[in-house]
Amino acid sequence: MGRGKADGKPRKRLFTTVLLLAIVGALFFLYSRKSGSSSIEYGSKSLKFGGDDSAIPKTIPVCDDRLSELIPCLDRNFIYQTRLKLDLTLMEHYERHCPMPERRYNCLIPPPPGYKIPIKWPKSIDQVWRANIPHTHLATEKSDQRWMVVKGEKIVFPGGGTHFHYGADKYIASIANMLNFPNNVINNEGRLRNVFDVGCGVASFGGYLLSSDVIAMSLAPNDVHENQIQFALERGIPAYLGVLGTLRLPYPSRSFELAHCSRCRIDWLQRNGILLLELDRILRPGGYFAYSSPEAYAQDEEDRRIWKEMSALVGRMCWKIASKRNQTVIWVKPLTNDCYLKREPDTHPPLCSPSDDPDAVWGVKMKACITRYSDQMHRAKGADLAPWPARLTTPPPRLADFNYSTEMFEKNMKQPLCICKGNAAYNIPPPYFA
Ligand SMILES: C[S@@+](CC[C@H](N)C(=O)[O-])C[C@H]1O[C@@H](n2cnc3c(N)ncnc32)[C@H](O)[C@@H]1O
Repeated sequence: MGRGKADGKPRKRLFTTVLLLAIVGALFFLYSRKSGSSSIEYGSKSLKFGGDDSAIPKTIPVCDDRLSELIPCLDRNFIYQTRLKLDLTLMEHYERHCPMPERRYNCLIPPPPGYKIPIKWPKSIDQVWRANIPHTHLATEKSDQRWMVVKGEKIVFPGGGTHFHYGADKYIASIANMLNFPNNVINNEGRLRNVFDVGCGVASFGGYLLSSDVIAMSLAPNDVHENQIQFALERGIPAYLGVLGTLRLPYPSRSFELAHCSRCRIDWLQRNGILLLELDRILRPGGYFAYSSPEAYAQDEEDRRIWKEMSALVGRMCWKIASKRNQTVIWVKPLTNDCYLKREPDTHPPLCSPSDDPDAVWGVKMKACITRYSDQMHRAKGADLAPWPARLTTPPPRLADFNYSTEMFEKNMKQPLCICKGNAAYNIPPPYFA
């Protein structure tokens, strides 16, 4: 018995050791398989390269949670840390400043905690998930103006704004009415299609234009009205972060039929009217600027002074009042160069130099001058564009400025569109737009 007992102990110990080794081995195997198949590494800021083609990253790390709202070239921390010398009065700090390569993050931006699949269009125009943009500051700040309201897990948008507490839809109809557009519909039977809304807030103005087949590009910076553009985009309304500061807007000349500013709090008189001249550049011949602001109606001394000076400036720019009612004035830009050419010599603002390319915009400083029309446009007395939606497939007259004939345009439209992806090319027959 004694021997028997003594013989059983080593066997039991051996069995326990083998079992332990097997468990540790299995755990190690499972762990190494898991980390090997993972495509992300949390919190790291470096990309892993390797394999035959070293340009293809094998893993892309996820950025730290604190970077969930990082916008690389509009990063306030970058500006503070690198002490960029920017003129705050010109709003340069709201323009793009991209980090040098060694300061760039090579990681994936994580969604905020609790992120949900966004609410689908068209419902999204009225409501978004609060978790997706966890900022409720504007709801309290602008509660009297009905920009947005927090309701449980959602943020809802009643369509209000600083200037249109009772809904952008009624305000848009009143603008159409001021311009005598048929049936008070803002699209003016397809003649008004492209709108630029400067200082847009949460972009309700642009959002409510969509049902009239009018598209607006809305612009605002990440200033005290934080996250306004994030809300606009989550709602499904085209918008971008930026500012009327020192650089030209990223659009060629004569791109929009209407520019709009409701209480955008921009000093239009600064620097010889340079910001108003930038709006003038992007407006088509006969384009409108709808302006709703105290200067247009208030009777106190300061507002009257600004109104007088603005009226004189736009007069020298050859704009005329198309309509003025209640708190809104709508100016219209001339159709030809006639008025520009009739101005007294040395009138300010001057005409831009013939060497200025009004369509060069990327990183180009704004210029305090008037962009005259090409000879073709002057003769045509306007942009001569087909109304929407025929405009999609009708040759735009401005092609003549580039010596591009209607025949060339039509021939081009008949050719299949070649889309190249990797080494493959796909021929897509016209029409390209369904
Ligand atoms: C009082 S809010 C009006 C918002 C909206 N238009 C409305 O009526 O509800 C002023 C807006 O102008 C924007 N803003 C101020 N200065 C600007 C500038 N220089 N360029 C572009 N937007 C500007 C602000 O960020 C904000 O969106």
